[in-house]
Parts: sequence; structure tokens; C-alpha cells
Amino acid sequence: MNQRYARITGWGKYAPKQVLTNFDLEKMVDTSNEWIVERTGIRERRIAGPDEPTSYISVRAAQDAMQVAGITAGDLDLIIVATSSPDYLLPPVSSQVQDMLGAKCGAFQLVAGCTGWVYGLVVAQQFIQTGAYKTILVIGAEEISKAIDYTDRTTCVLFGDGAGAVVVQASETPTGILAFELGSDGSGYEHLIVPGLGAIRPASHEVIDQKLNYIRMNGREVFKFASRVLGRSLLNVLAQAGLSPSDINLFIPHQANGRITEAAARLMGVPEDRFFMNIDRYGNTSAASIPIALCEAIEQGRAKPGDLIALVGFGAGLTWASAVLHLGGPDRSVAMTMAEELFLIAHAKYLARRTMGAVQGLAVDALMAVNERLGR
Ligand code: COA
Repeated sequence: MNQRYARITGWGKYAPKQVLTNFDLEKMVDTSNEWIVERTGIRERRIAGPDEPTSYISVRAAQDAMQVAGITAGDLDLIIVATSSPDYLLPPVSSQVQDMLGAKCGAFQLVAGCTGWVYGLVVAQQFIQTGAYKTILVIGAEEISKAIDYTDRTTCVLFGDGAGAVVVQASETPTGILAFELGSDGSGYEHLIVPGLGAIRPASHEVIDQKLNYIRMNGREVFKFASRVLGRSLLNVLAQAGLSPSDINLFIPHQANGRITEAAARLMGVPEDRFFMNIDRYGNTSAASIPIALCEAIEQGRAKPGDLIALVGFGAGLTWASAVLHLGGPDRSVAMTMAEELFLIAHAKYLARRTMGAVQGLAVDALMAVNERLGR
């Protein structure tokens, strides 16, 4: 069987109608536009109304992505919705999305905090590479505003709602994810948590009275974790792909705090303008932030088919995930020669490293056998 690649052929996004500005927040809690802009880079965020639940914003982003890809719901083999804020605890919102789109395929919800969409993209690639599926929708959609205490200034200024989606399709032309890293460090689970409404503390008067149904965050710890992991994980995937930061056309980080991205850019020696940022208009939209940013980067001409893009997500869990990908696009003829060359070079480097590892392993085994014989 020919090698199969997972090509991104469509992208879309949906931003809820209501805009909540820093000046609006000044009237709600003890904060200021200056503080929020200086410490986070956020100026405004979107808040989903009652007529825009997570299922609805997912479908809107998906429909745009499907239109760009030129496919219909009947073409879908699988739907993955990355979210921590579904319409209901049960059912998974992915099944509502499947029904609303009119698709007849499997669907599941994936929860990995703000990192969920990158996890979802990697999962989609696996299904396509094995030959199991041909066309997969990967959505990131969040309404974190529903888990925010709007009297808590340490969290309410940060988060916003939104959705982004891509269509991933099987292709015989080299494209898609070149290298990825999925990470988790559950020892930090309490740093970003909704303490109530789960199995440990189910719904009760106490949960509501103590506001345990809202997000609690240890901002400083999350900040330290994110600043550490963002640059390190990106460098890991670049090394895996045999690429250097200068090979990457655009870095698209999870939009959590402009200062976290600045720290990563410094660590990597990459000019900050090669990191795409739209946090000023959306805040942190959790699992939706990277697909929304990818979509906007393409719409603004900052990313185009044929480009090498590096993605990095991080968040609750604590989790992180990075991926280096070649952006395919719906036009089958675009920039494939370059992609093929890059794939061949990266693949050759990967094989060389594996061979080196195997040779080293054999040498160590041989040395140990000699040592054993000599009775050392
Ligand atoms: N407006 C004004 N003052 C605020 C404030 C707000 N919205 N939020 C916190 N402060 C205050 C604090 O109470 C503190 O006051 P104090 O010194 O009197 O105690 C002061 O500002 C400094 O707080 P600190 O937490 O040290 O600020 P910071 O520079 O670390 O910024 C965050 C706070 C939350 C912006 C920052 O820690 C952060 O971005 N963390 C990561 C959050 C994140 O990305 N979460 C999601 C990951 S997916």
C-alpha cells in the first residue's frame, strides 16, 4: 500500500457575537484595561449567548471548513470535537454536532484542556495513515465563560469563547504532520481546575455556595509551567523533524498570555513577529485558540498552502502538545514539490538517527557480551 498522508484541506472558525472588552470588565471587577493589556495582551474577548451553545459554534466553524475543503457531510468518516465545555456533561457534544451536520459517521469528544485540539489533529492523522478513514473533521470549541466566576478578577479577564475547525483528508502527496509531541504532567492537576461537579464533588448546595463550579487557577504556577514547556516542546518537535526554527514559516502558539509567547520566542532565538498572535481580540479560548489562529493566519495571508507551520498547545492537566506540519490546502497542485523535498529530507534524517541508535545499541550489546565473557 502507498504511504498515506493527512492533508489539511479546509479550515473555518466562529466567533460568538457578544464582545466583552476590558473596559466592560473594569465595571465588573477591580481591574483596569492597562493591567490586562500589559500582563496578558488581551483587549477583548467573545462571550457566547444562549442561542450559541458549544454544539452550534462547533457546527458553524465546521461548515466553513467543509466549504473550503469542498466536501459535504456525507464525505465525513469521523468527527472529533476537542472541548472542556460541552453543552452537557452527557451526551458528548460530538454526537450533537454529527447530527446537526447531517453526517453519518463516528464522533467523539476529546478532553485535554487547552491542548485538546492538537491532540485531536494528531489522532486524526493516525486514523488516516493506517488507512482506516479518508476524511475527518477536527473541531476545537469552547465556552469557558460558563465556568468563570465574573467576580474573580484573576480568571475572568483571561478567557473567551469561540470555535475553530479543520478538515483532514487522506492524500498520497507528502503533507500534514511531520513530527509531534504529546505531553502530560498530572502532578500539576490542581493548578487549573474546576473543583466541583465531577465525581469527587458532584452537584450540591455546598458546591454552589463555595463556587466550586468555577475555574480556580494558580496563575503563577501555570505561567511558569507554560513558559517552560512552550519553547522546549517546540524545539523537541523541530529536532524530531530535522528542522531548525528558521525553516518554519509561522509559529502558532496557544493564545494564553502574550508574555508566555515572548519568553518562548526569546528562548528559541526567533523574532516575535514569527509567532502568530490574536489574543488581543479573543483572549484564551482554550482548545479553540489554535484552530481559530490557524484560520485567521491563512485569511490574513500569514500562512499559505505549502508553508511549514509549528503549533504548540498547553493547559489544564497539565498537558502540552506540539506539531510541525506542512499546510496542504484544498488546491491539490500547490507547492507539492517543496513539500515532497522537505518530507524526504526529514524522513532521511529520521531514518539516519534510528540507524545510528540501532548501531550504538548493537555496539553496547557486543561490549557487554565481551565483558561478561571476561568475567568483568
Ligand atoms: N486586575 C488587576 N490586578 C490583578 C488582576 C486583574 N485582573 N489579577 C491579579 N491581579 C493582581 C494580583 O492580585 C496581585 O496583586 P497583589 O500583588 O496585591 O497580591 C498582582 O496583580 C500580581 O499578581 P500576579 O498573579 O503576580 O500577576 P501576574 O503578572 O502573574 O499575572 C496572570 C497574572 C494570571 C495574568 C498570569 O499569572 C498568567 O497569565 N498566568 C497563566 C494563566 C494562563 O495562561 N492560564 C491558562 C493556561 S491554558
